[in-house]
Amino acid sequence: MAEENHMPADDMAVETADALVVAEDVRKSFGRLEVLKGIDLEVRRGEVMCVVGPSGSGKSTFLRCVNHLEKLTAGRLWVNGELMGYRQRRGRLYELRDSEIAAQRSDIGMVFQRFNLFPHLTVLGNIIEAPTQVKRTPKARATERAMELLDRVGLPDKANAYPEQLSGGQQQRVAIARALAMEPSLMLFDEPTSALDPELVGEVLDVMRDLARGGMTMVVVTHEMGFAREVGDSLVFMDDGAVVEAGTPAEVLSNPRHERTRAFLSKVIQ
Ligand SMILES: Nc1ncnc2c1ncn2[C@@H]1O[C@H](COP(=O)(O)OP(=O)(O)OP(=O)(O)O)[C@@H](O)[C@H]1O
Ligand SMILES: [Mg+2]
Repeated sequence: MAEENHMPADDMAVETADALVVAEDVRKSFGRLEVLKGIDLEVRRGEVMCVVGPSGSGKSTFLRCVNHLEKLTAGRLWVNGELMGYRQRRGRLYELRDSEIAAQRSDIGMVFQRFNLFPHLTVLGNIIEAPTQVKRTPKARATERAMELLDRVGLPDKANAYPEQLSGGQQQRVAIARALAMEPSLMLFDEPTSALDPELVGEVLDVMRDLARGGMTMVVVTHEMGFAREVGDSLVFMDDGAVVEAGTPAEVLSNPRHERTRAFLSKVIQ
């Protein structure tokens, strides 16, 4: 259990410098199944990190650990200098209250494979929900900001549509706008295009590319190697709960060092 970790200092102010995310020996087990076997990673501010790896290698579990949707079995994870999900006192970790965890999470936007918009709310309603409910942003201000975001994701005329009236690609762009409405400092994407028809993938990747250009820090689990190569600052290959290889996309894609990376890439790159 994470509570059994022992560290010398209390509530260490972590010197994360340029790193927005620091994962230190992150471990996660479900019962006897060890899914993450000690992940060490750093994501710098403004960095776009792409994560690839075979099904079941632990990519989604790692993303879920970053925003504490999963409790760590061991290790530590900092976002923006804050220990995610825990407070450290006399070398012991204590889980934060739900409200404290929610506050930490509000700084992290997450976009999943399946569009998880609220079906009973309009596009606008979806986007202003969290800012008005969680951040208590006045409705007029939240609406103004939502319209700017809809413009940014190329859907200025869909504010009053319901999710079911949109294509998958449009829904996914609304999901991105909704995450951005909380003005997060980090965006996590879990295969945001893999449930889309091929002709809709490009429009979502375009929005993500634009976000990356704007300096957003992003961790993107994806099988879109073209996107990883072009937009990613770093590429991480995970297999069996561990980081096998990490480097620039050019390094990892053109000159993989490990046989497991080579075998995986030969399957996903035609
Ligand atoms: N809540 C859970 N309870 C038990 N096992 C789980 C749970 N969530 C994930 N797992 C297991 O953890 C392993 C890693 O799953 P994870 O979803 O992180 O893989 P992934 O790399 O995202 O795979 P994919 O590419 O298919 O999305 C799998 O063996 C999965 O069955
Ligand atoms: Mg997954």
